[in-house]
Amino acid sequence: MKAILCQRYGTPDDLVLADIPDPVAGPGEVVAKVAAAGLNFFDTLIIAGKYQTKPPFPFSPGGEFAGTVESVGAGVTAFKPGDRVMGYTNFNAARERTAVPVDQIVKLAADLDFDRAAALTVTYGTAYYALEHRAQLRATETLVVLGASGGVGLAAVELGKIMGARVIACASSDDKLAFARAHGAHDVVNYEKENLRDALKRLGGEHGIDVVFDPVGGRYSEPAVRSLAWEGRHLVVGFAAGDIPKLPLNLVLLKGCAVLGVFWGQWVRHEKGQYKAALDRLAHWCAEGKLSCHVQKVYPLAETPMALKALAQRKVMGKLVVRP
Ligand SMILES: NC(=O)c1ccc[n+]([C@@H]2O[C@H](COP(=O)([O-])OP(=O)(O)OC[C@H]3O[C@@H](n4cnc5c(N)ncnc54)[C@H](OP(=O)(O)O)[C@@H]3O)[C@@H](O)[C@H]2O)c1
Repeated sequence: MKAILCQRYGTPDDLVLADIPDPVAGPGEVVAKVAAAGLNFFDTLIIAGKYQTKPPFPFSPGGEFAGTVESVGAGVTAFKPGDRVMGYTNFNAARERTAVPVDQIVKLAADLDFDRAAALTVTYGTAYYALEHRAQLRATETLVVLGASGGVGLAAVELGKIMGARVIACASSDDKLAFARAHGAHDVVNYEKENLRDALKRLGGEHGIDVVFDPVGGRYSEPAVRSLAWEGRHLVVGFAAGDIPKLPLNLVLLKGCAVLGVFWGQWVRHEKGQYKAALDRLAHWCAEGKLSCHVQKVYPLAETPMALKALAQRKVMGKLVVRP
């Protein structure tokens, strides 16, 4: 079968398209034919050796997929060949077939297409876990989303709106903000043009901001924390800007606020039932049109490096998918 392989740490240009043997389903696994694989910012890190997961070489990027079960391993009774499935692989989805533990997949709602199903798991799963389980966002609250047009950012905008919150989308260009507004944001801030602290003070008013969803880090995190209301929550989701910021802890004391870590992959491992229930719900909301799961572009497998470059260059709104 064809696979995009990372044979040593490097850039997207170091990836190669190769022929490798088909995988065999181990105990508790299925082998699925990949119809579409979703790409995420962390794929740019995993191939560079800069991510917490370090798979043995050679491996493929692609942390999520949708496709059809071809074979099942020992002990697997919940899935059978022919089932349409979607879910989390962590890596190895950008290839024609992938072996995946059954704990990480669900059967795919019949009315959801493979491309959007492949793009749904990580971004909407993370935003759902963050807003529902970590921050316990309430309908009366104000939610600020940094990097609001990106994968997890757009998911947080849409889910925040479904949960009834007032959503303030923050991003680096007016195009990205128009995109976030079209997907449900009530207010927008261009943090390249306007000082983030001033903008959030203006929009948060006397009460302040209840919840910040932060997949960007860098120079935006501290002003966002400074904008929190009494007992606000700052969700630490990622560091797409590259720098891991440090926070003066007196801010946390003075605001009575919480800084909450969001490690979705560990939640999937620790709370398998909750993960599968969330994925089912998100897939249905997507099929019903309540969530867009917007796919900006679909690439053939051989062009996976181009897709990863677009992600690294901050050019993507919504998601990118590769079709093996
Ligand atoms: N904690 C978890 O469990 C979890 C799960 C999934 C993802 N993540 C993390 O969340 C972050 C975002 O992931 P994603 O897949 O949503 O990425 P994405 O689609 O590329 O979006 C990232 C956003 O970050 C902003 N950004 C600011 N500086 C950037 C830079 N130097 N390079 C690239 N983007 C930059 C961009 O928005 P602007 O141009 O508008 O600033 C971009 O839209 C990553 O750090 C990822 O590892 C964490």
